[in-house]
Amino acid sequence: MFKFASLLAFVTLASSVAAQAPIYGQCGGQGWSGATACAAGSVCTYSNDYYSQCLPGAASSTTAPASTVSVPTSTASGTSSAPSSTSTAAAGNPFEGYEIFASPYYAAEVAAAAANITDSTLAGKAASVANIPTFTWFDQVAKVPTLGTYLANATALQTSSGSKQIVPIVVYDLPDRDCAASASNGEFSIADNGEANYKDYIDQLVAQIKQYPDVRVVAVIEPDSLANLVTNLSVEKCANAQTTYLACVNYAIEQLATVNVYMYLDAGHAGWLGWPANLSPAATLFTQVYQNAGSSPFVRGLATNVANYNALVAASPDPITQGNPNYDESLYINALAPVIHSAGFPAQFIVDQGRAGVQNIRAAWGDWCNVKGAGFGTQPTTDTGDSLIDAIVWVKPGGECDGTSNSSSPRYDPHCSLSDATIPAPEAGTWFQTYFETLVSAANPAL
Ligand code: BGC
Repeated sequence: MFKFASLLAFVTLASSVAAQAPIYGQCGGQGWSGATACAAGSVCTYSNDYYSQCLPGAASSTTAPASTVSVPTSTASGTSSAPSSTSTAAAGNPFEGYEIFASPYYAAEVAAAAANITDSTLAGKAASVANIPTFTWFDQVAKVPTLGTYLANATALQTSSGSKQIVPIVVYDLPDRDCAASASNGEFSIADNGEANYKDYIDQLVAQIKQYPDVRVVAVIEPDSLANLVTNLSVEKCANAQTTYLACVNYAIEQLATVNVYMYLDAGHAGWLGWPANLSPAATLFTQVYQNAGSSPFVRGLATNVANYNALVAASPDPITQGNPNYDESLYINALAPVIHSAGFPAQFIVDQGRAGVQNIRAAWGDWCNVKGAGFGTQPTTDTGDSLIDAIVWVKPGGECDGTSNSSSPRYDPHCSLSDATIPAPEAGTWFQTYFETLVSAANPAL
């Protein structure tokens, strides 16, 4: 079982001073009329035209776009400063023997949310979520310097506690990101220097990680991207992005391997690549990606169900899965594994169960946006009951939104106003208090 590392040093739930937004609160964006100054220890940081957020530290300016953030160490050519990997990957499950480091970023979001709940029983349960280790998403380059802070904290905790720390991150900043949907469009575009910008983003991650060799880092690589290349090449944006996605993911893998990051490529979920006709094309693509990056042992395998709602083992098939024999993540993984292993990629798996506590809540299997009635699911553990599965993890930080229901937003996706979506919803990645409260009260197992 994982234990967890709790670190709430950043939580400044300060009695809110008038006209000051709290850490992780909104402090700007079109139509925003609230506070634009941030609580002590945080700085208003541009996220997109609709949202600026108070982030810890004193880096970056209030309005500068992400691209102005400087690279911490020189990475002029993109590959020059990356060391060649001198270490070999440890054999076996990279989570075994490690505590997953609980992100101070998510812990602070959760602590602020719990403080807004008046019902004390619910507030207590909500506050406990801060201690459950959840992946930190690097969804924009401006956030990369904070990784250094987390790695420094994890290193200090490892020294003081004697428990080895593994820091879980999501690499998520491809140009023309989220090519088959709209809600998570990112900051980089292929037409505007996207590949070079992405490589710079990866170089910045590598530069941070290189400074903290004593803690282990595990990464989920680019949710949805390769799965979209398996099934969504009929979408023009995906077809146009194919070459760039492959080049960027290859670069990410090769560079992150040089600093010993254990990687799981995102592999969609049972209701996506788990359909029998998709298994073999998926195995072929993932194996090509793995082999093109030198079959690095740091590419441990695949991550499934990221930000989705499927059970690991469903008691019975949800009616919406009708026709798919692989109606839960365990069935999907056990169907894909033999195909991908024989293709030449000895993949192991991790499975997101962060929001999978309640089943049979969707009107259609393809519904993914802020699905109503979802609850936190099985907590992170290496006790998975399946030798193919290294760990059950929480990848999507429960309470961060999947996408806005505001149809006038440039990132509006109609999935976010379906009858089974929670409405009104803010922009993807920003805090969604109502949704968080439901996840807490519907948690299964209960918090
Ligand atoms: C959003 C990201 C966010 C991630 C985790 C995605 O849907 O686009 O901005 O970091 O979810 O909440």
